[in-house]
Amino acid sequence: MTIEANDGGVAGEPRSSDEWDIIPRNLHFNIRANRQRHWLGDDVVKTALIDGLSIFLPDGERFFIRSLKHYTPHLEDRALAAEINGYAVQEAFHTREHEEYNLAMKDLGYDVEAMEKPVGASLGMVKNPLHRVLATCAIEHLTATFSTQTLRHPDVLDEAAAAYRRLWVWHALEELEHKAVAYDVLMAATKDMSSWQRYLMRITAMNANIASFLFIFLRNIPIYLRTDGVKPGFRFWFRFFWLTMIAPGYWRRCLPMIANYYSPWFNPRNSDDADLVRRGREWLEKELDGYSPTKQAQV
Ligand SMILES: [Fe+2]
Ligand SMILES: [Fe+2]
Repeated sequence: MTIEANDGGVAGEPRSSDEWDIIPRNLHFNIRANRQRHWLGDDVVKTALIDGLSIFLPDGERFFIRSLKHYTPHLEDRALAAEINGYAVQEAFHTREHEEYNLAMKDLGYDVEAMEKPVGASLGMVKNPLHRVLATCAIEHLTATFSTQTLRHPDVLDEAAAAYRRLWVWHALEELEHKAVAYDVLMAATKDMSSWQRYLMRITAMNANIASFLFIFLRNIPIYLRTDGVKPGFRFWFRFFWLTMIAPGYWRRCLPMIANYYSPWFNPRNSDDADLVRRGREWLEKELDGYSPTKQAQV
């Protein structure tokens, strides 16, 4: 199956296969029809770690789109304005698929409303357009970090149910394709500031977003586990710590890349992802081989 830009393409421009291209792919993963409890290796802790990320996405991605689109009419750089358009279409498709993903979680009995509530509330508190783009830039770096780890260590999804694996591969790839857009908008929005003022604002926003992500994520874990009848006691938290920080160390692997954001010379383009993007595109094509988005996925 060949993957092409579709109705969501950037302003009808012809697209090349360059790794910096932002290619919106209008794919349906039918997660609701293929919903599955403990879809990752029949392991409640591993599944909770990834389902917990999806809780942030519908509200988060709507927030990112609005934050960047606010700047489109003010940009002198029209190429960046076109990139925002491609970015917004990718994130809109992600929003749609993760809304369905979260509905599937709800169908399985999880209290999605209670878990999503603090996400919407915390994003809703950020009203200032510059603060919104600072938050978007920080969170885009976190999503690019998770995506890089997914594409570098594809074995993390080896035991995943097919529909979920396809969705996360697709999402990881597109996050890498658009990883620099929010940063470029932030640079344009703060062009009259000193580099130190911009730097302090950027790292303050990252600190605030990491703190609120960890607070909401960890608060949601007991709500999620209630449905599985699992008590989040010592044994649970030991395993959680082991998986995230020791082996395989899902979060530990992310730390060096997150630390890069704290460099005054940070630029998402400093890490060359051409090879990773190429591998991601090949992986997605392989995943979608023989898959019809209009039919129920085979799991
Ligand atoms: Fe996304
Ligand atoms: Fe994104």
